Amino acid sequence: MPPALPRHIAIIMDGNGRWAEARGMRRIKGHEAGAESVRTIAEECSRLGVEQLTLYAFSEENWRRPRLETEFLMRLLKRFIAAERETLIRNQMRFSAIGRLERLPESVRKELQKTVLATKDNPRTNLCLALSYGGRAEIVDAVKAIAAKVQSGQVDPKAIDEATIAAHLYQPQMPEPDLVIRTAGEMRLSNFLLWQISYSELYVTETLWPDFRIEHLHAAIEDFGRRERRFGGLVQRPAAM
Ligand code: FPP
Repeated sequence: MPPALPRHIAIIMDGNGRWAEARGMRRIKGHEAGAESVRTIAEECSRLGVEQLTLYAFSEENWRRPRLETEFLMRLLKRFIAAERETLIRNQMRFSAIGRLERLPESVRKELQKTVLATKDNPRTNLCLALSYGGRAEIVDAVKAIAAKVQSGQVDPKAIDEATIAAHLYQPQMPEPDLVIRTAGEMRLSNFLLWQISYSELYVTETLWPDFRIEHLHAAIEDFGRRERRFGGLVQRPAAM
């Protein structure tokens, strides 16, 4: 058991396309293989007792990909969410989704709703998929919701603070991610959970997402356990003699 377990792990799952291309396969094969990693990592997080696992499964920007690829991803998501429902229930895991979900096809939204409902009272890991998600879009949506409340007199603009913004994000009750993992080596945040990851520890690995296995997750958690988290303050050290 790793010494310090993050409460919330968030993952930018990258490298599916490169994984497939390296094998002379079509990109969609990489996404299929990536779905297997999702299964493995979600189950391991539940076994370890991680409170929340948020996966960047489809960004707002991903809509710009060729239609065949986005359609394939939507079908894959629908199949995955339906097929995993029983496993999530068996593992007592919760399931949720964040993003501009209204942009998803009706059939995907239906499966999402069913799985959210079927798992809502479960006590173990909340597997949260970021779908049609953008960090800036989330902040824009929060600002719009607050502006509407200001207009109707429910919110006093002078009273708006960080807690007000946080309370209007897609999933206000989520603990902020302690650890953000990015696979496939790129050193960027790609518009992921911009508000929530202000103080998260970042871990970037060259491993492509379809190759990311339990031992890679353990390595990331062990690395996290060695970090000194200061949240802008100073680490408490024994006074010098
Ligand atoms: C990045 O790889 C990954 C995605 C755009 C989508 C992530 C989707 C999955 C892991 C599979 C389905 C998800 C679930 C939850 C079942 P990329 O295509 O950008 O890779 P590249 O950078 O190598 O081209």
